[in-house]
Amino acid sequence: MKKVLISGASGFIGGFLVEEGLRLGYEIYAAVRKTSSRKYLSDKRIQLLELNFDNAQELQLQLEAHIKSKGKFDYIIHNAGVTKVAKKGDFWRVNFLNTKHFVDILIDKDWVPQKFIFMSSLAAWGSGEKGSTNPICLHHSPRPLNFYGKSKFAAEEYISSRKNFPYLFIRPTGVYGPREKDYYVFFKMINRGIEAYIGYGKQYLSFIYVADLVNCIYLALASEHSRKGWFVSDGNYYESRTFSKITKNALQKKTLQFTLPKSVVKAIAFSSEKIVGMFGKYPTLNMDKYYLLAADNWICDTEPLKNDLGFVAQYDLERGVKETLNWYKDEGWL
Ligand SMILES: NC(=O)c1ccc[n+]([C@@H]2O[C@H](COP(=O)([O-])OP(=O)(O)OC[C@H]3O[C@@H](n4cnc5c(N)ncnc54)[C@H](OP(=O)(O)O)[C@@H]3O)[C@@H](O)[C@H]2O)c1
Repeated sequence: MKKVLISGASGFIGGFLVEEGLRLGYEIYAAVRKTSSRKYLSDKRIQLLELNFDNAQELQLQLEAHIKSKGKFDYIIHNAGVTKVAKKGDFWRVNFLNTKHFVDILIDKDWVPQKFIFMSSLAAWGSGEKGSTNPICLHHSPRPLNFYGKSKFAAEEYISSRKNFPYLFIRPTGVYGPREKDYYVFFKMINRGIEAYIGYGKQYLSFIYVADLVNCIYLALASEHSRKGWFVSDGNYYESRTFSKITKNALQKKTLQFTLPKSVVKAIAFSSEKIVGMFGKYPTLNMDKYYLLAADNWICDTEPLKNDLGFVAQYDLERGVKETLNWYKDEGWL
């Protein structure tokens, strides 16, 4: 059986990566921290591995101990990362530095796997042309809008600078599905009858349902491809109002609509960052988040993904949202 190490296994996407890996017959090693939740990692076939990505020396010792007894990993999916932080510097530290140290260890110790999949993000490229439905394409120059995107892009740059290192970059757009906690805030608002928008112009979004994303990742892992990357979405784009409409229909809710001008949201994000920052913290609505929320075009070109991996999403937004909402309801989240 081929061994797959999955970092960030305790998180939203990580849990699904673990489940799909088991279903496909891989020997799954789930990297967790002491503090990580094991809620969705209870399957007896999962081999839990405590790895401290925040300390390169300790990480090397932990990997060494493991590899001595069980051998090298055939594949690594480096999915651990932060999308929101308590301290601004954490984007750089976790998404860039921890990835750099991990890759350095693998190369220096001759533990390079057959494939190293790095979970990047569409944010590494930045948003598309304003006021248009032209997608963000691989041949466009990356222009990350915020610290999150910059940290992912820097990690990509470092990984690709290492000669012969067999990486693949997966750059998902917004991922939604059961257990997810950010879109959940939006679903909860609609459920309470509130439909909020930022800015008066049209905003074009793209999405990928978590089951499709993990399917795509295992296609990439098993493919002949190396040293390249793809954007991942369901191949469609949706106006932000369509997203609300689909959700309202699925929840059978009527809503009160309101729109906040971008300048107001920006001012709130800016001042809360300053005020909360005085206490050494980073607020939920911060400038980093503002740039992501306010961008007009998050459409991405998925043709290369289709051509290279034959990937076709099974879930459009309507089907995915229905399944997600059913899960939230069944679990008492809604
Ligand atoms: N969700 C999206 O829409 C989206 C879109 C594009 C890309 N991504 C990328 O996909 C990956 C997974 O995202 P997610 O949505 O599943 O996020 P999540 O639910 O917050 O999971 C993040 C995972 O990373 C782990 N992690 C965070 N900091 C770590 C550290 N310092 N050391 C070791 N592990 C650490 C977490 O461990 P603990 O449980 O111990 O905290 C958790 O398992 C991330 O790299 C993210 O940037 C997500």
